[in-house]
Amino acid sequence: MEKLWGGRFQGKSEAWIDEFGASIFFDAKLAKQDIAGSLAHVAMLGKCGIISADEAAQIMAGLEVLAGKLAAGELEFSVVNEDIHLNIEKLLHEEIGPVAGKLHTARSRNDQVATDMHLYLKEAVTEIIASLAHLRTVLVTKAEDHVETIMPGYTHLQHAQPISFAHHLLAYYGMFSRDLERLTESVKRIDISPLGCAALAGTTFPIDRAYSAEQLGFSAMYDNSLDGVSDRDFIIEFLSNSALLMTHLSRFCEELILWTSHEFQFVELIDAFATGSSIMPQKKNPDMAELIRGKTGRVYGNLFGLLTVLKGLPLAYNKDLQEDKEGMFDTVHTVKTSLDIFAGMIETMKVNTSVMEQATQKDFSNATELADYLAKKGVPFREAHEIVGKLVLACTQKGIYLQDVALADYQAIQPVIEQDIYDALASYTAVAKRNSYGGTGFDQIRAMIEKAKKNTIN
Ligand code: ARG
Repeated sequence: MEKLWGGRFQGKSEAWIDEFGASIFFDAKLAKQDIAGSLAHVAMLGKCGIISADEAAQIMAGLEVLAGKLAAGELEFSVVNEDIHLNIEKLLHEEIGPVAGKLHTARSRNDQVATDMHLYLKEAVTEIIASLAHLRTVLVTKAEDHVETIMPGYTHLQHAQPISFAHHLLAYYGMFSRDLERLTESVKRIDISPLGCAALAGTTFPIDRAYSAEQLGFSAMYDNSLDGVSDRDFIIEFLSNSALLMTHLSRFCEELILWTSHEFQFVELIDAFATGSSIMPQKKNPDMAELIRGKTGRVYGNLFGLLTVLKGLPLAYNKDLQEDKEGMFDTVHTVKTSLDIFAGMIETMKVNTSVMEQATQKDFSNATELADYLAKKGVPFREAHEIVGKLVLACTQKGIYLQDVALADYQAIQPVIEQDIYDALASYTAVAKRNSYGGTGFDQIRAMIEKAKKNTIN
């Protein structure tokens, strides 16, 4: 079959080489955007009198037929036509005959592919933002149910101080809010039209780039045609935002995996998000959480892949840029599905509140309370720290906890200690009282939830 760019060639092409150069296997995903870009382009050509109104109308009608066939799943692409752009053009030819050849006036596949990518990513990021917004709502709703659920707060994965479970959930709300902000902010750098930059240098035809940009719903145009065809920063930015977002999901997944283990038993996932073992009948594995943690790797890889493609790439278009697609598609799919699965997991998980609270009873996470108690009674904090440290050691040797020490023994160590020490040592009190701004105290948590609810109403 003849190639659309075949004029300059004499030798025969070879299928296996063509296959290596082709992108239709993956850029078929851009068919909808490619047709939309062509419609805007041809409307502009007609409006500017570059082709006749009749020709423009014929081409547009043909493109509409293709759009209808695409929606009905009736378009068939061939590797012979290399990529989505040439495939669509060929199909248009079959639909309307030689007038189809006028579509590519004042345009190149270089601005065409860039236009498709901008259109695709703008829509995809909007969908990801919606999923992320939903996850934030799920977190806030869950937090509301667990303001007074006490759990051990950890540093170094060792019991540190008791906290409210809602506090933990809202920490992730904070991370996801920053992700949401970054993605939303990035849209303005995706929402730029390269159409009309042509191959690299613009065109001698009297085109109206603003018109086609507007037709496509873009808010701006590239000011420099070389930049317009060779820029992939907007994809890198998306991949980078995605990498960080996946980091946050992965950290939380790691915690879910720990919390669902026999050792913790803080949380139970509903059956739909877990799987069994083919040999061990008792197993209920948190596969979905593990997979999200695992998939974080490929998202990092996609970011590094494209950064490496661009590093050292001279202006303007180079075929290397065809490598921008698979990683982007893969990231869009991975991030979107990970977010949706994760939100479902959090929404439906059963929180074993009593187990969480119990975990703060048989431990020394109230040691700071004792030190603070002494400090509030005038003992210098460093001295209080030393006293409590020695006491913890003595308790450990005896196999008891701070709340088990008799008042007489406390008073022998420090006479300022009174009966109210036992209330101060209770984990519930320890949490309730931490009302410094952003702290785990219930009043603070309620304020955080109120603030979050104002932001998540959508
Ligand atoms: N399939 C190509 C890509 O994805 C389209 C642009 C081709 N341009 C060219 N001059 N070969 O990058």
